[in-house]
Amino acid sequence: MSKSVTNWIRPEIQQLSAYYVPEPSNAIKLDAMENPYGWDAVLIEEWLKILQTTALNRYPDSSARKLKAILRTVMQIPDRVEMVLGNGSDELIQMLILALNGPRRVLLVPEPSFIMYRHLAQVVGMKYVGVPLQENSFTLDMYAMLEAIETYQPTLVFLAYPNNPTGNLFATEDIEAIIETTPGVVVIDEAYAPFSNRTFMSRLDQYPNLLIMRTVSKLGLAGLRLGLLAGTQDWLTQIERYGNLIILMFLLKLVLLSHFATMQCLKNKFNGLKKIEKYC
Ligand SMILES: Cc1ncc(COP(=O)(O)O)c(C=O)c1O
Repeated sequence: MSKSVTNWIRPEIQQLSAYYVPEPSNAIKLDAMENPYGWDAVLIEEWLKILQTTALNRYPDSSARKLKAILRTVMQIPDRVEMVLGNGSDELIQMLILALNGPRRVLLVPEPSFIMYRHLAQVVGMKYVGVPLQENSFTLDMYAMLEAIETYQPTLVFLAYPNNPTGNLFATEDIEAIIETTPGVVVIDEAYAPFSNRTFMSRLDQYPNLLIMRTVSKLGLAGLRLGLLAGTQDWLTQIERYGNLIILMFLLKLVLLSHFATMQCLKNKFNGLKKIEKYC
């Protein structure tokens, strides 16, 4: 057989179009929800100091205890809820798909939604089923969703809440019906929580097949690549086996998140694009 690359790279991978992120320049990139503002000088100075004393010969603390404690405060995550960290939610999505994929297993997603669910399913080789949202309102088509759940018995369902790119929140009772009828796990992706006052975080106790995903990207810190998956210990122990936080970014995450006030400031700046006196 020829040694040509195309003989060896899986056909599904060859068909993928790369996830392209255009150069930011000075634009306010609403499509990627990036913060157009840079970091505070105080923060950068503090990070540089930490870098000077970083033990690059050591592996990082994979349990990331301090970082998790800070995230609990910043994102108001109850003490009883466990979490796994990832290099962005993208990595967590990939970890979930890797952990749950198998013969005849299906990932179900209402569409349009975050493109990486489909993209990463294709990378991993998991069967993906998209169910169109209602055309005019972008609400869930519950008839179609429940029918798809019945037909495909999905192992994994992603619901972006608020949804990207439509920006709406799906109805609570529709989400409840999906969690209750799905045989596998439902992940509510709350990447856009900073733009919403609704969350399913307090419902984790109620549903054993529910996980919640958050990220600091939409708080204005996309370059940090820090996402978290919240849920019960049973689920997270299994998912965590793949974890691989990178030390430099880990330290940076720790420093930045310690500055809760600055985080709030970035959030406010991004939310209203208005001037805030303190720190900014
Ligand atoms: C719904 C949703 N989930 C997750 C992500 C990715 O987040 P991260 O930057 O943490 O990988 C995005 C990014 O646009 C998103 O829109």
